[in-house]
Amino acid sequence: MTLIEAKGKLIKRSRVLALATVAGLLLVLLVSSEMSNAQVTKGKERPLTTKQWMQAVHKVHCGAIKEGLEAGPSDDDAWAKIALHAAMMNESSYVLMADGRCPDGDWAGACKQLGEGSAGVLSAVENKDAEAGLAAFGAMTKSCGACHSVHKK
Ligand code: HEC
Repeated sequence: MTLIEAKGKLIKRSRVLALATVAGLLLVLLVSSEMSNAQVTKGKERPLTTKQWMQAVHKVHCGAIKEGLEAGPSDDDAWAKIALHAAMMNESSYVLMADGRCPDGDWAGACKQLGEGSAGVLSAVENKDAEAGLAAFGAMTKSCGACHSVHKK
């Protein structure tokens, strides 16, 4: 084997090695993105998707709290309705953490914000304090952006 032949073999070998490394990296990326995707769009066992939960629960109850508080609740019924919607949002802070749905600390932190903000709305309802309710609602809705900015495509 001449020196040039030997050099050529070496170059071929390092090309194969480089290609194998790139293919391996791509595989790892693919698998990990599939895994994190699965956690965000759905839990592990139950059929409910995160999107369905957002549409059925967050969209509906979040909007209703805002409307109710901004209108200025005029009687016990109106306050009770706001409490119902806030309790649903509070429950959501647990549902979003259940069934292996939580992929990371951003998600968990947003759920904590959601739970605390909605609990604040509930205490404001107990005191029939619409202004405090709106402040707590503002804190609660910080959770939406906190989670969406990381996990919503
Ligand atoms: C812990 C994470 C998390 C929190 C907190 C959160 N969301 Fe979401 N939300 C998501 C994810 C993930 C999606 C995207 C789901 C998908 O498309 O698969 C989403 C999507 C949505 C959608 C779009 C649904 C559709 O039709 O595509 C709405 C509306 C929504 N969220 C409302 C809210 C509101 C309002 C709040 C705050 C009160 C909130 N979300 C808080 C994770 C969260």
